[in-house]
Amino acid sequence: MLLPVSYVQYRMNPCGACRWWSEDMVAVVTGANKGIGFALVKRLAELGLNVVLTSRDVSRGYKAVESLRSIGLHVHFSRLDVSDPASINAFVSWFREKFGALDILVNNAAISFNEIGENSVEHAETVIRTNFYGPKLLTEAFLPFFRRSASIGRILNISSRLGLLNVSNPTVREILQDEEGLSEECMEGMVSWFLEDVKSGTWMEKGWPKYWTDYSVSKLALNAYSRLLANRYNGRGLSVNCFCPGFTQTAMTRGKGTHTAEAAADIGARLVLLPPEKLPTGKFYIGCSPFLYSKL
Ligand SMILES: NC(=O)c1ccc[n+]([C@@H]2O[C@H](COP(=O)([O-])OP(=O)(O)OC[C@H]3O[C@@H](n4cnc5c(N)ncnc54)[C@H](OP(=O)(O)O)[C@@H]3O)[C@@H](O)[C@H]2O)c1
Repeated sequence: MLLPVSYVQYRMNPCGACRWWSEDMVAVVTGANKGIGFALVKRLAELGLNVVLTSRDVSRGYKAVESLRSIGLHVHFSRLDVSDPASINAFVSWFREKFGALDILVNNAAISFNEIGENSVEHAETVIRTNFYGPKLLTEAFLPFFRRSASIGRILNISSRLGLLNVSNPTVREILQDEEGLSEECMEGMVSWFLEDVKSGTWMEKGWPKYWTDYSVSKLALNAYSRLLANRYNGRGLSVNCFCPGFTQTAMTRGKGTHTAEAAADIGARLVLLPPEKLPTGKFYIGCSPFLYSKL
């Protein structure tokens, strides 16, 4: 389904003009020492939220926090490596002690080992562990702590259009299109199947996505997981959406792209702060501006 949000509507609802949230609202952003994650933390802090900047590397994280402090923005910090379940557990325990409840989770951290135009799957296991299992395990650990208030808990998964259904393998297509039958087991089965094909060297002939294959499969699984969660929590105080920021100038693209991380983060912040009565669930938003599309 395409759900265009008109430019006029988009311009008439800038975050500042329809502020409905309080400074007690808490947001966590993963992979936030640089790139889109860092820009999102900055934007959410500017908008007056209580923000937790997380980074897998403590010194890179502190440097990011310091750079915000130097411009008058105060955020919280904790280490979090989303590819490590022990780090996820430690982070969630720290969070529970310090805040008790969560309003917004932005699963932003992700990795790709390919340059633009390359397609090696040498690091496929790390890519799947970071980009799919990372957000999945973190989300599962946080589910009991979402504040199911009138403002609605929010999960925004920073995904990619490369994870739309660009797979020719008929079995995978069938699994992902089966709205009723889609389960965690199906998704985990699909990524295991992909990793087996990588190990056996048959991945090229099996109809997996043709560009940045491991990254695309990780985002395909993340999109499917988001849809499953959105359906499961529909009407139960938790919204789950995906956002593809488009081709953005960050380390992941070696600085190439059509727009800055700040521009992408501005849209991400607007999406995650939509007023409760306008907040969708189970949507996939593409692009920066002026149009946002839903493709789920
Ligand atoms: N840039 C684009 O064109 C584009 C397009 C579509 C989607 N996206 C998505 O946008 C999101 C942000 O990417 P970006 O472009 O801002 O890339 P980036 O500048 O490379 O930032 C990625 C962030 O994720 C962190 N990270 C990597 N592995 C991690 C782990 N195991 N645990 C915790 N953090 C980890 C990185 O930390 P380190 O600094 O320690 O490596 C970094 O902070 C990603 O989900 C990406 O897939 C980007």
